[in-house]
Amino acid sequence: MEPTPTATVEEAQAELRRGLGRTLLTEEEIRTRISELAAEISRDYAGLNPLLVGVLKGVVFFMSDLLRTITIPVSVDFMAISRYDPSRKTRGAVRLIKDLDETIEGRHLIFVEDIVDTGLTLNYLVRILRARGPASIEVCTLFSKPEHRLTTLPIRYTGFELPDRFVVGFGLDYREAYRHLPYLAELRPEALQLNAPDRL
Ligand code: IMP
Repeated sequence: MEPTPTATVEEAQAELRRGLGRTLLTEEEIRTRISELAAEISRDYAGLNPLLVGVLKGVVFFMSDLLRTITIPVSVDFMAISRYDPSRKTRGAVRLIKDLDETIEGRHLIFVEDIVDTGLTLNYLVRILRARGPASIEVCTLFSKPEHRLTTLPIRYTGFELPDRFVVGFGLDYREAYRHLPYLAELRPEALQLNAPDRL
């Protein structure tokens, strides 16, 4: 017998839940920390009308909360990238599939990231942006996994430092799933092994 549509939805949700490990950060903890970052940025950039630049798609959750709690005038813009095979020598190199709409020459940029792991993606994008002559560039990331870092690019604002685990939620996905979760959870190692990811 064909499963009913309701059973299919429930099965899909149960399957997703099975992949989740423990919750690392609750929605409230994340939002509180974002307000603190927003307060710091509002203080540091008063009078500078900074441009917040984010990379689609994972950053949209963090970006929208940050924008709503920053109290000074700011602008926002987005880039989109696609990754090359991370196992190749091009690791960290990305192809821009959507560039910024704004000209950034002379602007104060805050590069907003959801998570910095090796830092290679960030390093690559910041190099591209720096070549366009902004007045300054600083980095603000919600999550950071410092154990994996392969670059020395300074990060001015960090929300949370995380252990070396694959995490999902609050914008972070595993093969496009789990982004919508309002909290941050570990992905169970079995879930990763079962579906050997091609982009990790
Ligand atoms: P990096 O170049 O190694 O710093 O990789 C950064 C990108 O890898 C992030 O923008 C995410 O898309 C992805 N990433 C790294 N760690 C995680 C994780 O734990 N969960 C989900 N995505 C991750």
